[in-house]
Amino acid sequence: MAKILTGIQSTGTPHLGNILGAIIPAIQMANSSNDESYLFIANMHSLTQVKDPKTLNNNTFSTAAAWLAFGLDPDKTCFYRQSDVPEVTELAWYLSCFFPYKRLKLAHSFKDKSKNLKDVNSGLFTYPMLMSADILIYDADIVPVGKDQLQHLEITRDIASRFNNLMGETFIIPKAEIQNDTKYIYGTNGEKMSKSKNNIIDIFVDNKKLKKQIMKIETKSLSIKDPKNPHECNVFKLFEVIAPKNEVKLLKNQYLKGGIGYGEAKELLYDNILKRFINNREKYFELLENEEEVETLLLNGATKARKQAQKVLKRVRTRVGF
Ligand code: TRP
Repeated sequence: MAKILTGIQSTGTPHLGNILGAIIPAIQMANSSNDESYLFIANMHSLTQVKDPKTLNNNTFSTAAAWLAFGLDPDKTCFYRQSDVPEVTELAWYLSCFFPYKRLKLAHSFKDKSKNLKDVNSGLFTYPMLMSADILIYDADIVPVGKDQLQHLEITRDIASRFNNLMGETFIIPKAEIQNDTKYIYGTNGEKMSKSKNNIIDIFVDNKKLKKQIMKIETKSLSIKDPKNPHECNVFKLFEVIAPKNEVKLLKNQYLKGGIGYGEAKELLYDNILKRFINNREKYFELLENEEEVETLLLNGATKARKQAQKVLKRVRTRVGF
């Protein structure tokens, strides 16, 4: 049985693009597999960027609530917060003593980030050490990540084998499993939906705000009676991934024939988003009201995770002579 582990960034409530592109496929995979899986919220990594305790905490909490609302099963997946497993930071220190500074300096994610961020702290630089500890401390075999994380995984494999060579077999060498975005989700301006592009649809807001975001979707200026190309319309592109097939077909025909305006199409999209996510939104709002329930789940996850982490850390402490 393989051990699968991945970390999720908690930079805010997941938007529709994250949900359709990452969360739903990941949960389906975890729930249908017999492998042992670990999923954690990388809130210590977020500290490199977020310096407001309330924001950091709220982001962690809403990320957890979103994953739970989409059916993450905490009995099947060990689900926890990175900061609840202090063993990880201890291991990160050991690892950093085994990785050449010159190699770390080559990491391109640091180069990219340090160009764009104001707060270029040392945590940002040693980010790959903490990430390697996240993985190695559970003897993980497989790490599903996006392409942008590949170099971090290479660093993880590199440190693990350097340590093994120098100190004796200690770590499992993990493999990256590239997650191609299963679905490309268009944002309100027709570019890929992304928080940094300010074109997201957030479904975890009240109905009024949700509608406002949908009304903001950019369209051409064609009149109601004009025939429209569905594949050039941002409203339709979203409708297509949300609504049931028969409704998509219906709307497509209306577009091609003409007689439907963008306002009406947006109303249809709004109704379908409400319908499709009714249970998930209900669950999410319920969890927000029951903070202790989420807290307990995460702490239980951390207890399980720490047991495993302590075993590996003990191995490492012995190897280094402590
Ligand atoms: N760096 C990852 C990202 O930005 C998040 C992460 C932190 C992670 N620790 C991890 C992913 C360990 C996989 C394994 O998405």
